[in-house]
Amino acid sequence: MSNNYKRTLITSALPYANGPVHIGHLAGVYVPADIYARFLRLRGEDVVFIGGSDEHGVPITIKARAEGVTPQDIVDRYHGIIKDSFKELGISFDIYSRTTSDIHRETASEFFKKLYDEGKFVEKTSMQLYDAEANQFLADRYVTGECPHCHAEGAYGDQCEKCGTSLNATDLINPRSAITGNVPVLKETRHWYLPLNDYQEFLEKWILEDHKEWRSNVYGQCKSWLDLGLQPRAVSRDLNWGVPVPVEGAEGKVLYVWFDAPIGYISNTKELLPDSWEKYWKDPESRIVHFIGKDNIVFHCIVFPAMLKAYGDNYQLPDNVPSNEFLNLEGDKISTSRNWAVWLHEYLRDLPGKQDVLRYVLTANAPETRDNDFTWKDFQARNNSELVAILGNFVNRALVLTHKYFQGIVPAAGEMQPSDLSAIAEIRETVGKITENLETFHFREALKEAMNIARIGNRYLQETEPWKVAKEDLGRTATILNVSIQICANICVAFEPFMPFMSAGLAEMLGLTELKWSMLGKFDLISEGAKIKEPHLLFEKIEDDVIEAQVNKLLKTKEENRLKSWKPVPQSPDVDFDTFMKADLRVGTVLECERVPKADKLLRFLIDDGMEKRTILSGIAKFYTEPEKLVGKQVCFIANLPPKKLRGIESCGMILSAESSDGSLSLITPMHEVAPGSQIK
Ligand code: 2FM
Ligand code: ZN
Repeated sequence: MSNNYKRTLITSALPYANGPVHIGHLAGVYVPADIYARFLRLRGEDVVFIGGSDEHGVPITIKARAEGVTPQDIVDRYHGIIKDSFKELGISFDIYSRTTSDIHRETASEFFKKLYDEGKFVEKTSMQLYDAEANQFLADRYVTGECPHCHAEGAYGDQCEKCGTSLNATDLINPRSAITGNVPVLKETRHWYLPLNDYQEFLEKWILEDHKEWRSNVYGQCKSWLDLGLQPRAVSRDLNWGVPVPVEGAEGKVLYVWFDAPIGYISNTKELLPDSWEKYWKDPESRIVHFIGKDNIVFHCIVFPAMLKAYGDNYQLPDNVPSNEFLNLEGDKISTSRNWAVWLHEYLRDLPGKQDVLRYVLTANAPETRDNDFTWKDFQARNNSELVAILGNFVNRALVLTHKYFQGIVPAAGEMQPSDLSAIAEIRETVGKITENLETFHFREALKEAMNIARIGNRYLQETEPWKVAKEDLGRTATILNVSIQICANICVAFEPFMPFMSAGLAEMLGLTELKWSMLGKFDLISEGAKIKEPHLLFEKIEDDVIEAQVNKLLKTKEENRLKSWKPVPQSPDVDFDTFMKADLRVGTVLECERVPKADKLLRFLIDDGMEKRTILSGIAKFYTEPEKLVGKQVCFIANLPPKKLRGIESCGMILSAESSDGSLSLITPMHEVAPGSQIK
């Protein structure tokens, strides 16, 4: 089927409208989906690219509760931010709608109703977690507790983020309400379940036998689910935000967000193409491709296909579900709650005009086969040493030389020499590899091959040296520059899916009005005599200060998180008063202070303790790098500890410091100067 289709429906996971999108979302879903959509469009294929916000479910209501606003306020705010930032990044959705639209609510409601009427659900009454104070059942993210599998704390009622296991709220050990912190009680409630077990056999054949070509992470996850044996899954919730369950006597119940969200792909197609949407979903010659992150695999490969199968009416199942692993940020898991992310709308504000750089870096470093890491240093290096030094450099040299020797008029190519022919052959071979990689969803590899066109171009100029040849043979220079301009045109087409802004700018300089994938590998794309516009640089170097500002922003977040999560150590067991009074605590004045040679941590203090001079060693050298500045200051110390020898020096007592949340030590000093030897009471 996948090689013989008439049209493609591309969907990208609908992001929850409870916050802006970050680079993890982009690398995992939206950039690859957009590359694929643009690639198919350049091939002249019939393609529809669907996006939209997921506006129901507990993530939205939790955010609304935290801010004291309505769920509608939350989704209105974030839908706008997300939609605008996608547009600015060049994500070329044919529609970006939302699941609070009327058409979606009607579509999802009708979908449920048909399955209900046809007896496709199982109705069950069971005991569920309930927060009596909040008067709320605690499904999904409303409840946290210990994961029954990996025993991590903080697992949610629907999933443990630590080990990725999908959970039922009642599976959690020591559950707590995320609303009040209370221990929930059990209360009876009635829900509708999709009996996934009835579809086990069908799904096993469809996935494990018919879709062996799916990415191994997707196939592997499906296989584990199927091997465990599918269980009925609740498709409704006791919530007041969502699509109401369209059944009599179901007041206060809504469709489970994972039931309504994938139907959003259908409603958004309907909204875009009211008269022809069905052919994208129901014609066997159509092909559906879902781009998702790895946490969405089960819903797109098992639950939604089972829903579509239950619905019937010729709904087609996905042909492929290219799912990425996760992108980390500076070695740490991206996290919305810890604000550990590079947010797209902030990136666009802080680095204006650099959309393509982000698209490039996220693709070059895409987490296609394993989790990957985004670092600002790598971002800078890829821009400066790849985009500027390889791609930008080649295009600029080709265009500038054409202006220098031929006033920007594309010169005629004369007879081809082996160096020309081998560059052309290499590029043709590379183009084949780009296409093959794009067809098979290997976007990182496809981009690497596209960059090879620029590498071949640079090598070609280096070998043929048109600036030297020009001195004696302008005709030969003309051939080299003609070939170079054709290479630029190939770059313009090959990079359009990856970096559409750069491609559009280059097309404008070259005077290319229409780009088609079939132009690739051709060397007569720009006619002799065509005028090339005055070249401008495609990419600019990114300076250290720009990167430092971003790194500092993250360091600040890290510091804020540390402070938020810091807790004082639990109090020590009681000590009786007489024992405490035995400790002789005093104030002394520092007479000398210096580092102890060959001991990283130790400072040697000479203290005036009012009676004599005493030496005390203290392990605070790391925190006081100019010890001489402590002379004259007053410190507190325990006077009656037995002397102890450290590094050959006898230390008589212990100087008191306070340990801060970051582990640093700060000397304790009296508020006003006191006589040396004063006791601390
Ligand atoms: O994981 C998420 O962010 C979900 N909102 C994805 C939904 S995808 C689809 F089914 F709509
Ligand atoms: Zn777990």
